[in-house]
Amino acid sequence: MLVLAAFIYGPGGPESRVYAPARDFDRHLHETLGSAVFVLAVARVLWRMVARRPDPVPASRWMRLAAAAVQGVLYLLLFAVPLTAILGAWLEGHPLAYLGDLEIGAPFAASHELGARIASIHGWLGDSILWVAGLHAAAALYHHLVLKDGVLATMLPAWLLSAPRRRR
Ligand code: HEM
Repeated sequence: MLVLAAFIYGPGGPESRVYAPARDFDRHLHETLGSAVFVLAVARVLWRMVARRPDPVPASRWMRLAAAAVQGVLYLLLFAVPLTAILGAWLEGHPLAYLGDLEIGAPFAASHELGARIASIHGWLGDSILWVAGLHAAAALYHHLVLKDGVLATMLPAWLLSAPRRRR
């Protein structure tokens, strides 16, 4: 949901438009949502290291490979999208700016041309993550509605799946 919201508020156009004072609110909102994605991605990876993973549902070899590839790309993008934005903005000479007037300046010297290139890669990666997430969601629905193999259930939290207990 946060990735989708960050995408919707993605500031587009030339640098003068992206950083125009009239568009401050949208950009601050975008950077706040996008940075929250980064923080949650870090938390998710840490959680994944300690939490028990659901048992895999039996599936053909190509399906297992495809699922692993899509998951790997999604994790990669969850880090690459915010990190290219942060690096690009700092190299262009802009501080990160969040809702509530919080700003974080660059810890290194600007290199504008490189920053602009990285910022445009960020836009491409931002579009890509939506495509990959959409593909992933479509595959999950296919498993649920057509194959009826319980794959979607392995993506949901256990508490949502356990039937409510009756009181005696
Ligand atoms: C998952 C999180 C994010 C997504 C999905 C995302 C998506 C996008 C997209 C699609 C664009 C291009 C919009 C267009 O060209 O119409 C964009 C631009 C931009 N984003 Fe993000 N973004 C994310 C995180 C961040 C973060 C964390 C920051 C900064 C801290 C940020 C700062 C920017 C800036 C400054 C631009 C304009 C780049 C330029 O100069 O061309 N974004 N973003």
